[in-house]
Amino acid sequence: MARIAYVNGRYLPLTDATVNIEDRGYQFGDGIYEVFYAYRGRLMDETLHFARLERSRGEIGLASPMGAAALRVVIHELMRRNRVETGLVYLQLTRGVAKRDHVFPGPVPRPALTITVRPKPEPPEALDGWSAGAITLADERWGRCDIKSINLLPNVLAREAAKQAVALEAILFDKAGMVTEGASSSVWIVGADNVLRTRGLDQHVLPGCTRAAVLEDVATEGLDFREEAFSLEALRQAREVFITSATSFVKPITALDGVPVGNGAPGLIANRLYARYLARLKEG
Ligand SMILES: Cc1ncc(COP(=O)(O)O)c(C=O)c1O
Repeated sequence: MARIAYVNGRYLPLTDATVNIEDRGYQFGDGIYEVFYAYRGRLMDETLHFARLERSRGEIGLASPMGAAALRVVIHELMRRNRVETGLVYLQLTRGVAKRDHVFPGPVPRPALTITVRPKPEPPEALDGWSAGAITLADERWGRCDIKSINLLPNVLAREAAKQAVALEAILFDKAGMVTEGASSSVWIVGADNVLRTRGLDQHVLPGCTRAAVLEDVATEGLDFREEAFSLEALRQAREVFITSATSFVKPITALDGVPVGNGAPGLIANRLYARYLARLKEG
């Protein structure tokens, strides 16, 4: 079956789904995006993702193409047309088409909204086989990583460097040697003190929706937790490292720069939080 995309009000076969060469997303990366995981027809952490979309939109002064309710209808219609119940929904919103000039165009063009969906398998029941390796890399991104901007070249280069090293993710650190986040994930560690840590939110990290949801699970589990920055050194010494995102769920990192993390197997805390994640997924 041909894949169908949503492009500015129309449902089109992917081969016909094109955007204008003067779209500011293409010219300047002047846009934002969201990625949802759909599970059996439901969007996981939907409220969090729509809230972040609104926030990103506001931060770059982008007009709204439609309300959240209408957007939900479009997403579900696109899933239906593609016969995808479990998969990824990618939504991109740009400032639209205008004569190339850096400043915001006036009159304000219609923002360009495109959405694609593709199937993704359900998460495995157990963490075995779901873990991955990561590399560490200097964070060379811009100063507003809290905006889910489509300017992803540094993230692309970081993930490619990970792939070249036969790893999945690149864990980034700033000039002070403190871990920021993964190239496309939030990063968590469990130290020798058994305390679970993830960095607090600031403009250097994306407020992960999965991170926000997992934080509630952390409280439910009664885990010893601190929301604070940790160093590259602490990452290397950690008993457990795991990442979270809409696409990786809760994913243990069992090797860092080729060196095993802890005993090289998914840890206890990651297992507990993964079980919680699966439970939330299934409960809806
Ligand atoms: C840089 C970055 N940090 C964190 C995340 C995790 O965000 P979420 O849990 O909302 O998928 C992502 C997801 O793509 C990301 O790109």
